[in-house]
Amino acid sequence: MKHLLSITDLSTDEIHSILHLAGRMHQLQEARVKKLPYLKGRTVVNLFFEDSTRTRSSFELAAKWLSADAINVSARGSSVSKGESMRDTLMTLDAMGVDAIVMRHPGSGSVAQAAGWVRACMVNAGDGTHEHPTQALLDAHAMLTHFTRTRLGTLEGKLVSITGDLLHSRVVRSNVALLSRLGARVVLVAPHTLMPPGVKTWGVQVTSDLDEVISDVDVAMMLRVQRERMHGGFFPSEREYVAAYGLTASRLTRLRPTAVIAHPGPMNRGLEISSTAADDPRSIVLDQVSSGIAVRMSVLHHLLAD
Ligand code: NCD
Repeated sequence: MKHLLSITDLSTDEIHSILHLAGRMHQLQEARVKKLPYLKGRTVVNLFFEDSTRTRSSFELAAKWLSADAINVSARGSSVSKGESMRDTLMTLDAMGVDAIVMRHPGSGSVAQAAGWVRACMVNAGDGTHEHPTQALLDAHAMLTHFTRTRLGTLEGKLVSITGDLLHSRVVRSNVALLSRLGARVVLVAPHTLMPPGVKTWGVQVTSDLDEVISDVDVAMMLRVQRERMHGGFFPSEREYVAAYGLTASRLTRLRPTAVIAHPGPMNRGLEISSTAADDPRSIVLDQVSSGIAVRMSVLHHLLAD
């Protein structure tokens, strides 16, 4: 594995290997001394052209817990704001001899393009509306950890609904690819205006009626309404969006007792997810965050260790 650009690039063996090692890395979170020696002397740069809290900080912690040197470069506060091109920024960092560049950028396909320019390993931390592979891997890891703990088995045959702003979401594309490979059944739920074009060809169930599926799902994954990517009216009003697509307190009562609630964050409480749902005992939102570090440690280990 030279780069991690998309889920579709990974073989099934690589997926299982990343998830397996993430399981071992996860134990480090409980340890008092959070340090493993595997990436000593290696350098990881987080290059973020878009805002982020959890993805950036968990990549940084993942690198540091593996003893790599990690630095953060964000578009704001860097020479990007002086007009430097993406290519020049990448070539500059690459010339410093860094080993991996974890990159988030608003352009779909930009990280794959960058991989053609640099010597370093590129990791896609979200490229436009294309893919966010480590998010899907951490979502799967959090679900699998939960199903193992509760003796509900694997993802094989589980029904996962992904509801929300699918049009602007890179998370949904990576998740559909990964969950299908792991044997889960996926149902996508959104108003017609927020369905990605060509979604019917993705090979998963598609509906605009959340109430039709909510009582059957094993995982209810809610996605953020991405206002910053919306130019125009995609739904009549927030109140109507909540009524039709929000994980409200009343829909929560129809969710199976064994089902879990997932959200990649950041959450718009009161919009796609109610506070009651976000804080429900069935919510695995914070487990997703802790799985994030383990999965990113595993990915960096796969790319950089010996
Ligand atoms: C997602 C992203 O940036 O694609 N967040 C994340 O990485 N945890 C989803 C989002 O922004 O809504």
